[in-house]
Amino acid sequence: MLDLIINSFWLILPSYFANFIPVLLKGKKPIDFKKNFIDGNRLLGDGKTIEGSFGGFFGGLLIGLLQIYFQPYLPVKFYHNQITIILLSFGAVFGDLFGSFIKRRFNLRRGRPAPLLDQLDFLIFSLVLVSLVAEIELNIVIFLVIVTPIIHFLSNIFAYLFKLKGVPW
Ligand code: CTP
Ligand code: MG
Repeated sequence: MLDLIINSFWLILPSYFANFIPVLLKGKKPIDFKKNFIDGNRLLGDGKTIEGSFGGFFGGLLIGLLQIYFQPYLPVKFYHNQITIILLSFGAVFGDLFGSFIKRRFNLRRGRPAPLLDQLDFLIFSLVLVSLVAEIELNIVIFLVIVTPIIHFLSNIFAYLFKLKGVPW
């Protein structure tokens, strides 16, 4: 069980970073350039910025490079390489943007909660992309799908308490 926990978090760490760093960056320039979709709603909304998206991607890469450097000295079974950290970081950012795209199509304004979509969009995209180049055990996927919403929820409450975020979700 401890092995499962360690390897799951080791695998997904670049995605978690890519997802959380945008909250800290407080970007200003919307990555949809304030454009509307054909339904009249925003393409993505003001919550998805250029600074946040690129900062998240490169932040994920940075933690991934540190992981590649230290993994020979650590009790981890999953080994990262340049491709896995790129796919995980890109998947996290893109999945989060895709999640916002879906929310806008359902008339949910920026920042409104979409349970499970908000917590799992980045994770699913990351896992699908990384599984193209690495074999990911099913129990790791199941573990992450269960614990990620809980971690996401708790970290958002902390971000809200520390005034990094306007709403606690
Ligand atoms: N953020 C960003 N760029 C991104 C993703 C997130 O700048 N690509 C920042 C924004 O400040 C955003 C915050 O991180 O408000 C929290 O992200 P999230 O909860 O995903 O965005 P929401 O504001 O809830 O917007 P949405 O309803 O579109 O999910
Ligand atoms: Mg949100």
